Amino acid sequence: MFEMKQNRMTDIDQYLKRLYLSNPLREPVIRTAIDTMRLPAGSYGLDAGCGIGLYTLLLAEAAGPAGHIIGLDTTKEFLVKARSLASKSVLEDRISFKEGDASRLPFDENSFDWVCSMDFVGVVRLDPVLLLKELARVVKPGGIVFILIWSSQMLLPGYPMLEAQLNATASGIAPFATGMKPDLHFMRALGWFHRAGLIEPTVRTFVSDIYAPLSSEMRNALIELFQMRWGEAHADVAPEDWAEYQRLCRADSPDFILNVPEYYAFFTYSLFCGNVV
Ligand SMILES: C[S@@+](CC[C@H](N)C(=O)[O-])C[C@H]1O[C@@H](n2cnc3c(N)ncnc32)[C@H](O)[C@@H]1O
Repeated sequence: MFEMKQNRMTDIDQYLKRLYLSNPLREPVIRTAIDTMRLPAGSYGLDAGCGIGLYTLLLAEAAGPAGHIIGLDTTKEFLVKARSLASKSVLEDRISFKEGDASRLPFDENSFDWVCSMDFVGVVRLDPVLLLKELARVVKPGGIVFILIWSSQMLLPGYPMLEAQLNATASGIAPFATGMKPDLHFMRALGWFHRAGLIEPTVRTFVSDIYAPLSSEMRNALIELFQMRWGEAHADVAPEDWAEYQRLCRADSPDFILNVPEYYAFFTYSLFCGNVV
């Protein structure tokens, strides 16, 4: 869903804008998922692949005033934005950001009480089992590794066949692509946890409901999401499906789907976690 397509999308600023604009959609459900993590008060955590740090802030809030969270990312520009957003928050003192590669973490073993990764493990094109092993390495025994992944959506009410066609395109199912091993699909993530040596892996899926009337923030977030999800599907769908997509999903279309008075959509996030031994 939020895969970073740096080969095609060279414009980091545009990707940064996407993370930011999609926040009104993602934040409520991510907040709910974080609540269920029951992060220990005063704990020390790592947000791996933190992006612009929007959810590092939520993790810091959940870990309470004595907690501290490190947000780690490889993209300098995102960390600049993350620091700027954090500096405007009352949670600033509870967060630090560090540039680094999550597949070779710049931390000692047993450093953290827990590690969380959101739209990162299973989304970026890195071996998820190796990544989980590396995340687990820096967590103390008894600690937890969490991964949260955008797992599904129904955004085009009344057009299930068109939506299925759009979702069946390379960008629609990204980062999973035709020809990839089934094991690389996030629905197999429980197996990633087992193979990374984490015990008692579990998963829970959270749904976010969206319905009219939509705030302008939510409208803009959905417009961005349509573009992010299917904006590159042109080559992979029939011309009539592409025309239908544009008719329904372009804000300047007279049939723009967000103008349907009873618009309703939902999407899900799945939270996988496993214990470190
Ligand atoms: C889809 S974004 C998700 C960002 C953030 N977690 C969120 O949910 O908004 C994936 C992030 O992973 C970062 N990333 C990619 N490869 C990485 C690596 N090897 N180590 C750390 N971060 C990486 C990207 O820069 C990007 O910020």
